[in-house]
Amino acid sequence: MSNADRNTPGNKNPSEEELASMSQEELARLGTNLDDVDVIFRRNRWPAKGTKAEKRAERQIAFWFALSGLSALAFIAVFLFWPWEHKSLGEEGYNLYNWATPLYGLTFGMAILSIGIAAVLIAKKMIPEEIAVQQRHDGPSDAVDQKTSVALLKDAYDTSTIGRRNMIKLSAIFGVGTFAVAAPVALAGGMVKNPWADGDDSPLWTSPWDPDYPGQTVYLRRDTGRIDDIVLVRAEDLDAGAMETVFPFKEEWRGDLYKLRYSLRHQYAPVMLIRLRSSDTARVVKRQGQEDFNYGDYFAYSKICTHLACPTSLYEQQTQRILCPCHQSQFDALQYAKPVFGPATRALPQLPITVDEEGFLVARGGFIEPVGPAFWERPNYTEIPDLGERES
Ligand code: FES
Repeated sequence: MSNADRNTPGNKNPSEEELASMSQEELARLGTNLDDVDVIFRRNRWPAKGTKAEKRAERQIAFWFALSGLSALAFIAVFLFWPWEHKSLGEEGYNLYNWATPLYGLTFGMAILSIGIAAVLIAKKMIPEEIAVQQRHDGPSDAVDQKTSVALLKDAYDTSTIGRRNMIKLSAIFGVGTFAVAAPVALAGGMVKNPWADGDDSPLWTSPWDPDYPGQTVYLRRDTGRIDDIVLVRAEDLDAGAMETVFPFKEEWRGDLYKLRYSLRHQYAPVMLIRLRSSDTARVVKRQGQEDFNYGDYFAYSKICTHLACPTSLYEQQTQRILCPCHQSQFDALQYAKPVFGPATRALPQLPITVDEEGFLVARGGFIEPVGPAFWERPNYTEIPDLGERES
C-alpha cells in the first residue's frame, strides 16, 4: 500500500502510540493488511507439541546442518592436508593426487547442498502452511512498513518454533558457521602452502624443457600415442606453413616410462613448432633478447595460453595467427607470438631452438620466462634476460 493510499479516508494508519501498544502478532497481522496481503489459509505444522513426527522432522533438519558442518570441516582438512602436487599415472601417490580435486568439489558441494536441504526442510516442516495473496505496489517503505516487516519476520521465526528447538539451532550454528569458515579457506590456502618452497626449481618457474645439467641435449619429439615410441623431429619434417605440437625428450629418459610420460603429460611441455614460409620469415619482428631463438624458418612457442592456460591449438597459416579457442585470444607468429586480440596480455613464451649435428631439432635451453597465465610473483618484463637465465 502506498503512503497516498494510507492517507485516503477509510484507510486506518495507526498512530505511534497504537503501534507501540500492539503485540507482535497484531503487528504481523497489521503488516499483511497494510501490504494488501490476504492470508486466505494458515495452519501450524505441529499443533500438538512433542509428537514423534515432529521430533523426526527436527532430527532431519539437525542432520543436514550437522552434515554441512562436517562437510565443511572435511573440505578445510582436504584443502590444507591432502596431497595436491601433480603425480603421473603409475607414480607413487598418483591415486591420492587424483582424488584431490574431486574431494574439493565433493566436500564443498556437500556443505552447500546440506544447508540448502536443511533450509527447504525448515520451510516445509516448520514454518506454518500458508496461502497468501498480495497486490503489488511501488514506492519506498515508510516507518510502518519497516516496523511491521520486522514483526512479520519475527512472527515467522516464532511460529516456525525454531526458537525452542535447540537441536536445530545448535546444528545450524555448526553447519552454517563451519561453512562460513570453509568458504574463504581457498583464499587463505595460498598463504598456508608455499609454492616457492623449492626456490628456483619451484613448479611455476620450471618446465620439462629445462636441461638437468649444463650441456644436456633436449630434443623435440612427436607424440605418436605410444609413450615409448620416440620419434624425434628433423628440420625437414615440416612443410612450409605447417605447425606441429612437440614435446621434450632427453636421452636419459629412454626406457623410463615414468619420465617419458611426465614429459608428454606435464602441463608446460607442449610446444607449437611452426615452420613459416621463407617470405614470411623475412617479415618477422623479433623480441629484444630473443633474436636468435628461431632456427631459420622454425619458431617454437609454448602452447599454453598466457590468459588462462588453455592449449592454443590453432595455427592459421594465411594470417600467421595462433588462436586460443577458449576465449579467442590471438597471437601473431610473425611478432614473437605477442597477443593481438582477446584477453591474453602476454606473448607466448618462445623456446630457443637449433639443429644438432645429426639434423635433429633441439632446444638450446628451457624457457626464459614462466609458461602459462599470470600469478602474483610473476615478473612484469621490461627486458628479457639472457638465454639460460631464469628470473626470480
Ligand atoms: S585461455 Fe586462451 S584466451 Fe583464455
